[in-house]
Amino acid sequence: MPYSVKVGAHGVPSCVRQGETVLEALLRDGVDYPHGCTTGVCGLCKSRVIAGEVELAQYYPSVLTDEERAAGLTLVCCATPLSNCTISPVQTDVLLPSVTSICARINCIERLTHDILRIGVSPQDDTAFRFLAGQYASLSTEKMPAREFSMANRPGSPELEFFIRRVPGGAFTGFLFEQAAVGQVLTVAGPFGLAFLREGHIGPMLAVAGGSGLAPVLSIIRTALAHGMAQPIRLFIGVRAERDVYMERELLDLQAAHPNLSSTFVLSDPEEGSCRPAGLIHEVLARELAGDALGNARAYVAGPPVMVEAVSKVLIGLGLPATACHADPFLTSADKISRGRRAE
Ligand SMILES: Cc1cc2nc3c(=O)[nH]c(=O)nc-3n(C[C@H](O)[C@H](O)[C@H](O)COP(=O)(O)OP(=O)(O)OC[C@H]3O[C@@H](n4cnc5c(N)ncnc54)[C@H](O)[C@@H]3O)c2cc1C
Ligand code: FES
Repeated sequence: MPYSVKVGAHGVPSCVRQGETVLEALLRDGVDYPHGCTTGVCGLCKSRVIAGEVELAQYYPSVLTDEERAAGLTLVCCATPLSNCTISPVQTDVLLPSVTSICARINCIERLTHDILRIGVSPQDDTAFRFLAGQYASLSTEKMPAREFSMANRPGSPELEFFIRRVPGGAFTGFLFEQAAVGQVLTVAGPFGLAFLREGHIGPMLAVAGGSGLAPVLSIIRTALAHGMAQPIRLFIGVRAERDVYMERELLDLQAAHPNLSSTFVLSDPEEGSCRPAGLIHEVLARELAGDALGNARAYVAGPPVMVEAVSKVLIGLGLPATACHADPFLTSADKISRGRRAE
């Protein structure tokens, strides 16, 4: 029997069809409900179940903690009803920039490594694309489906900067690597994501990136330093080998100007004689941070889902509160399909 869902006690009930999530039913009915990734990753659809019961499919654990779940919160993009339900979106304590869609043009394409491109993008008619450091956008072209990429620049800079890793067999990244040129027009929609810089935080900051995960993490670090955040900021970047190291010059310059920043590249498959820390990044973090007090720290983690999951687990195991671990796993279409979600 199909169940209905309504938003707030006075909402109009929407029928949730067999196999549909609560979010899909609301959007089909034209309800303007907050959402982003639709895959349990960004947390934008976090809601309180005021009445009724829902069942949750797979979602990213740091987006909805066990405590929040026990307190009646849910992610409506992963929820199917077990009875008629009443829900209400949870407001964040920060006013998020509203989601918009702009036309933009690629200004520059630069190879950072053998499989990471830097692209600089400017709005076509100088419309500002507002976002918080750490958030991401959905990029598409007339012919290419939308894919998520995180801004690496500071909010407010005239050009949006993206670090894009080529995914073997990937439609959009393959297009950017092989066909896109300066002048290419893109649609940029967003911003999305809740793993943004908490500027009011005064405790130590940890920033952990895997590969192109450096994009949102660098946006956070650039912004934190520019805004005078003076607490210790430790950045760890996990890559495979020396040829995958990028942006090191800028990081060294930032460190020279801001002694509270330290950055470390960790190589999982180092060449013989390498002086950099070696190992999987979560193992290196477990070693490096053992004994540190993480109770008042905050962490920002981005990169491949397996790495983000392993790092979050280690940090929380070392005493970081789960609510202080802001993570963005870079899911691909294949990851979304394996999580039972639609990829276009
Ligand atoms: C919040 C967020 C932020 C992100 N930020 C960044 C970033 O800053 N930089 C970055 O490099 N990446 C980022 N990503 C990851 C990026 O969005 C993905 O890598 C994206 O899927 C690449 O698009 P693509 O079209 O090239 O590859 P896709 O077409 O998505 O393909 C990815 C893989 O899935 C396989 N695949 C595709 N369709 C199917 C199918 N129907 N069945 C089975 N397998 C299939 C492909 O063969 C390929 O191996 C982010 C992801 C998220 C969720
Ligand atoms: S829309 Fe539900 S977690 Fe992103």
